[in-house]
Amino acid sequence: MDLEKKRKKHCKGRRKGEGKVERRFGICDLPDEILQLIITSLRTKEAIRTSILSKRWQHLWKGISKIELKEGKLKERKQFMHFVTRLLVACNCSGLKKFSLSCNVRKDANLVNEWLCGFINPKIEELSLQFEEIQEPLIFPDQLFTCATLTNFHLDMPYIFKLPSSIHFQCLQTLSLSNIIFPDTSTQQLFSGCPALEDLYLLDCNLKNVQALRICSPLLRRIYIWEIEDDECDIDGLDVSNCCEVLINGNNLKSFHYQGDCVNEYFVYDSSLVIDASIQIHERLEYYLKSDPTWQIAAGNFTFRLLKMLPNVEKLSMSGTSIKALSRTRSLLGQLPLFCNLAELALDLDRYSSIKLSYLALLTLLQNSPCLQVLKFQGGLSLAKDKANCISDPLPVCFSTTLKMIEITGITWKKDELFAIKILLKAGTVLDKLRIQSSCIRSKELYKQILNYPKSSMDCKIEF
Ligand SMILES: *[C@@H]1O[C@H](CO)[C@@H](O)[C@H](O)[C@H]1NC(C)=O
Ligand SMILES: *[C@@H]1O[C@H](CO)[C@@H](O)[C@H](O)[C@H]1NC(C)=O
Repeated sequence: MDLEKKRKKHCKGRRKGEGKVERRFGICDLPDEILQLIITSLRTKEAIRTSILSKRWQHLWKGISKIELKEGKLKERKQFMHFVTRLLVACNCSGLKKFSLSCNVRKDANLVNEWLCGFINPKIEELSLQFEEIQEPLIFPDQLFTCATLTNFHLDMPYIFKLPSSIHFQCLQTLSLSNIIFPDTSTQQLFSGCPALEDLYLLDCNLKNVQALRICSPLLRRIYIWEIEDDECDIDGLDVSNCCEVLINGNNLKSFHYQGDCVNEYFVYDSSLVIDASIQIHERLEYYLKSDPTWQIAAGNFTFRLLKMLPNVEKLSMSGTSIKALSRTRSLLGQLPLFCNLAELALDLDRYSSIKLSYLALLTLLQNSPCLQVLKFQGGLSLAKDKANCISDPLPVCFSTTLKMIEITGITWKKDELFAIKILLKAGTVLDKLRIQSSCIRSKELYKQILNYPKSSMDCKIEF
């Protein structure tokens, strides 16, 4: 409606101004191409509404280069399906550069296949597709898989992704795949067909049909893996038979992020450039309750293998479970590399595992990080009274040379937490800052208590 008013104002101004030398420049004076750019920047429904503005505007929207479609409430499904189908007929899709569709498929796979065929043109640049409630396979147009202009592709689909034998995404830079079940033979084609890939997201994808996979895009800079074991799976130990070995060529890899419960194996070759990494193993309730030693050791081995591939990391974050599991693999701890560049280490509490300062793996990591500057405990930290000496035996080098800042968030002020803080203040001789965050009511009173703790670094500020 805003546009309507503007148009009236400007177009009136134009008529009034006729004959005069001076005249206001209005939106109607813009060429079609510019107006189409403006219309494209609107949301799809609003873009279409511009067709009511005037005769000239009636067809302008049809050349928009961006369409975003998202199914809403269940009771509006029919309306949505009808709308998209009519849009496909009315719109000139050959100029479409960005297309995004999110809907439930249900019994309408045929219709959705038609949409895919119609909206995805050979010059598409960004594609985001999210499907749920799929009952039969969706068929993507063959021309998609050899599209030379596609730069961003996001696909979220809890179903088998049928792939053709020929795949080549010449310009694809960002590939994000969620919930996808990969077929066996053709999966490799997909990961071999992206020579320009820089960012890869594999989010809760199922690789059970794939035994081995090579990700060999030479420009790959960042990889994010998130995986959870299917619930119906056998949880007595890891089912190695269904594990996929993913080999990643890390020639240019800068970031490696893993979150999950060790479903598949990941090997990064040539990982010397990786400077930013996270290893966030999540403990599942079943393992936690059973305190399953096999799972813990396997998870520890998994963490060890990843850490060993990241000797030059500068920023590392790990979950409490990763640290706890790694502590179980005592024999391997001695083989951890020296992390000479590690400046920031962040440890995150996850649902079941709190972080104890006395964990062997944590102490080893601190010993092996001679240049650590920032140490963060997100979600608390504790230390039992009888383990008071764990950190000083011997004191990690960074505590007396580079460690300037410790941050602890989410503490609940248990005795063991206060004790851990006391020990850290004693251990850090060059500490500049200890920052504590808590949402507890008694915080003020406990804060005063902390201010009275002896500090080895006189300059250390305690922030709250
Ligand atoms: C559709 O768009 C393309 C490219 O943007 C253009 O060349 C073509 O003329 C348009 N077709 C119609 C019928 O408007
Ligand atoms: C863990 O690694 C060690 C040493 O490589 C190996 O002997 C052991 O079998 C592994 N355990 C599990 C459960 O994977």
